[in-house]
Amino acid sequence: MAEKGGGQRPGRWIVACRSGPFDTPSLARPMNSGRHSGLTVRGDSDSPQFPPFHVANGSHVQRGKIDHDFHGFHSMTLDDLKYFRSAQGEALLKEARELPGDELAKLTRIRKGYDAGRCRAAMELLANRERGRRKFARVDEMAFDREGLEQASGETTSTYRAQRYKGVGAVADLCCGVGGDTIGLAGVADVVAVDKDPGRVATTRWNVDVCGVGDRVRVLASDVTQWVPEADAVFIDPGRRRDGRRLLSLRDYLPPVDLDHLFKVTPDVGIKVAPGISYAEIPETCEVEFISDEGSCKEAILWFGGLRSEAERRATILPGRASLVSRSSEPADVRTPGAFVLEPDRAVIRAHMIDQLAESLGAWKLNAEVAYLSCDHPVDTPFATRFQVRDVFRFGMKRL
Ligand SMILES: C[S@@+](CC[C@H](N)C(=O)[O-])C[C@H]1O[C@@H](n2cnc3c(N)ncnc32)[C@H](O)[C@@H]1O
Repeated sequence: MAEKGGGQRPGRWIVACRSGPFDTPSLARPMNSGRHSGLTVRGDSDSPQFPPFHVANGSHVQRGKIDHDFHGFHSMTLDDLKYFRSAQGEALLKEARELPGDELAKLTRIRKGYDAGRCRAAMELLANRERGRRKFARVDEMAFDREGLEQASGETTSTYRAQRYKGVGAVADLCCGVGGDTIGLAGVADVVAVDKDPGRVATTRWNVDVCGVGDRVRVLASDVTQWVPEADAVFIDPGRRRDGRRLLSLRDYLPPVDLDHLFKVTPDVGIKVAPGISYAEIPETCEVEFISDEGSCKEAILWFGGLRSEAERRATILPGRASLVSRSSEPADVRTPGAFVLEPDRAVIRAHMIDQLAESLGAWKLNAEVAYLSCDHPVDTPFATRFQVRDVFRFGMKRL
């Protein structure tokens, strides 16, 4: 360490670090190294049927309202989805996939033999499969619209979360989208998957069949604010964007989170929310789990009833499934940088467990207001990225 900032404001440092594979001193983030009781109806989701379900409070089923506005589909429609299940549709997809050249060259070639709209839809589907490669193992056989794919839970998170539903008879997967969560849930329970968009429902049907769990899934098109199927447990993943803007409050989600409505079905409810959820909006009765996958914290889950653990808060790191459970801890010391700097994972930061992590690692804070920790020994933890300190300088704009 070259210099330490004696006499200056505590916790204001420029720390030049290096991490694992990097040779050059760097202040930049390194690449993060962290890197299924009988519901077996195969619904025809294009003609939504409402079977004689009753909501758990005993009131009669209300027919769901079907929203025929395919806001999520750009060029691909419900009809396109059906087409791609036909021999001709499969042939078009195969040809488009195997042709050499860029998108325009492919489109020009396939348009000679197929309807132009189908060709656009085929190209969109293939592009979405490319985009979904990191989320799904069987992506090359799956179907997505662009927005549905962007909102979909990937397999790593959906299979991890689904573990809480083990032993549950039937789960209602509300707002199923393209079926990202349905796939995970159907690995441990029977699932009734509901979305107000019939196109999404048809996509979920397609994807659960592709993933080999179709016989455990029933799909329905319905507005879940009006009607929720009877189930032993609920998972709900409401939309959190409108017109490209993030929706911050649970009250603004699509649909808004209505706990009383969900608890009429069952007390065992899991709600996927944004990781930036305001603590003021987290009900006292739930456990909140912040989950990060390959270094990126994109969600939190509110667990209620029999789905929650004793923990109040939890930070979980995927794909390794390391989980840090909250307990009371003293505020960490604030000291000058040691031999290593630790950048806690976003899930740990969002779960407000930095002091606890510091305590468990024998580390201290560099600044009371900042999440970076420091220590003198090379700790290995899934909960933080470690940087080796090369130099420490007094803070100053010129040096930056
Ligand atoms: C975030 S996405 C769900 C993604 C899904 N969990 C997945 O992994 O693919 C939200 C979904 O909620 C649906 N939705 C919004 N309002 C709804 C309502 N009132 N009833 C049912 N579904 C609704 C949207 O159509 C959209 O597909």
